[in-house]
Amino acid sequence: MTSMRRILSATLLRHFSLFGRNLPSRVSLTVGSQSVFSLDFCRKSTTDSNNMDLSNMRKKYKGDEECFEESQLVSLDPIKQFGNWFDEATKCPEVGEANAMCIATATKDGQPSARMVLLKGYSNEGFRFFTNYESRKGSELESNPFACLVFYWEPLNRQIRIEGSVERIPFQSSCDYFHSRPKSSQIGAVVSRQSTPVPNRDYLRQKNAELEEKYKDSEVPMPDYWGGYLVKPSLIEFWQGQTNRLHDRLVFTRMKDGEKLGDFQHEAEEGWVYQRLSP
Ligand SMILES: Cc1cc2nc3c(=O)[nH]c(=O)nc-3n(C[C@H](O)[C@H](O)[C@H](O)COP(=O)(O)O)c2cc1C
Repeated sequence: MTSMRRILSATLLRHFSLFGRNLPSRVSLTVGSQSVFSLDFCRKSTTDSNNMDLSNMRKKYKGDEECFEESQLVSLDPIKQFGNWFDEATKCPEVGEANAMCIATATKDGQPSARMVLLKGYSNEGFRFFTNYESRKGSELESNPFACLVFYWEPLNRQIRIEGSVERIPFQSSCDYFHSRPKSSQIGAVVSRQSTPVPNRDYLRQKNAELEEKYKDSEVPMPDYWGGYLVKPSLIEFWQGQTNRLHDRLVFTRMKDGEKLGDFQHEAEEGWVYQRLSP
């Protein structure tokens, strides 16, 4: 795969230098008779970078023979299924940071915001990440304790969406994790009153240096505005990209008390049910 990437980069570079600004509308790479990659570019060349037409930009996904059938679920417990896909993502060298996820939160009146964070653990209880409780996401979660997480592992054509309620993890668990991090990261967390304006970079640099000096021989105390959250899932959706846009979507939801199975719903494990959604 690495050598394929190299060939691909060389192919793309050659096209770019040959065609200069007049890009070809499509670049593809074939190995033997099999097309392994193709990228469509905007046909209309434009010098106006504020008006880029990307309508033809799409990538080829897997062949139909590699589709994701219900029978391929390694478990009917979606946390275990998450674990299986997560492990595959961590083993895939082309995935840079398998635990990077987008987290969307919203204000109480429904104004959404999203950003990337790192998943730092998961279990039957939920998905754990760490942040500043006074940041924008922190204050949104305090007033509206629900979030949506999205993982996208592009080389595997996989996406996982998780929705659920959110709560702070116990103080001691945050403390244990805080002190397991490199000292420079601990100081960084103290320096940064995340999401608040600062006059310039030097201000942060100076504060960092002061704290490095202050704590050079002692433990950095965890600030009370820093800690972990647990997203307790009520929905987990597995998406596998396919050719012809017939993508696979299997969504697990928690069965509510007294709720009956829907027409296309199947019983799963640990109180979950699942069904296939149209892509
Ligand atoms: C790959 C990646 C991982 C990140 N991980 C974290 C994280 O674990 N915790 C965190 O607070 N911010 C993390 N950030 C920074 C956030 O995206 C964001 O800038 C910050 O948390 C402030 O967000 P907010 O103002 O919406 O609260 C990460 C950014 C990237 C690109």
